[in-house]
Amino acid sequence: MKKTIQSFKKAKQNGEKLTMLTAYDYSTAKLIDSCGIDGILVGDSLGMVCLGYEDTLSVTMEDMLHHTRAVTRACKNALVVGDMPFMSYQTSVYDAVKNAGRFIKEAKATAVKLEGGANVCDQIKAIVNAQIPVMGHLGLTPQSVNMFGGFKVQGKSEQAAKQLINDAKKIEEAGAFAIVLEGIPAKLAELITEQISIPTIGIGAGPCCDGQILVYQDMINMFSDFKPKFVKTFANAGKEMKKGFKTYIEEVKEGSFPSKEHSFNINEEILNKLY
Ligand code: KIV
Repeated sequence: MKKTIQSFKKAKQNGEKLTMLTAYDYSTAKLIDSCGIDGILVGDSLGMVCLGYEDTLSVTMEDMLHHTRAVTRACKNALVVGDMPFMSYQTSVYDAVKNAGRFIKEAKATAVKLEGGANVCDQIKAIVNAQIPVMGHLGLTPQSVNMFGGFKVQGKSEQAAKQLINDAKKIEEAGAFAIVLEGIPAKLAELITEQISIPTIGIGAGPCCDGQILVYQDMINMFSDFKPKFVKTFANAGKEMKKGFKTYIEEVKEGSFPSKEHSFNINEEILNKLY
């Protein structure tokens, strides 16, 4: 069944966990969608796991639209959320609405996500006013890596925790349909989840969020540059892929691939005329 922002709301009301993963290309999105996931985020983590940057800051609107188009072409049921890249919404409310609109018009996403709390509520209100669903994102927001001084767990002090609770309430008031909580203590995520009526989607935020999201390359062990503490390996695709690549190289080198079964025939009479 097609997932919508209404089905996200209903899941929270019914106490059903929501599932999300990231995806960046057609084949992977099709596989994930076929498994019954609720939502797919075309994350700006694209910059790190697909493009090899050390953070997400260099990702452009064009990068995001290109990959979001591929994902929406693949998804029959999952709610597809396009991640607004650094400087596509921070610069002004006008830029935020214009760029959010590009995700819908040009890439066929259903919703957009942006990072920040009270500081981006004007943008959230304006995007929602333009009839575009918005997912918030609080905590270890990777676009703030330089302000945080690295990828560090957020909300550990009393003041920082209170600020995050306040930000979550403000994002809900601004009209967001859900909030990603990333890299914050599990008990704080639980408190936020209890105090707002829109679903929280956790990543490194413990088990009490209304749903969970992971970067798909992390959870199937395809990305080896680093492994955050919150990532569990659900399958060893990286190992399987390497096995396949190595066997291919060996078989081509020794001449056992391609065999007859992987080759095309030509009529003998025609062939003889070619000599
Ligand atoms: O870019 C991304 O993949 C994200 C998720 C980790 C939530 O923002």
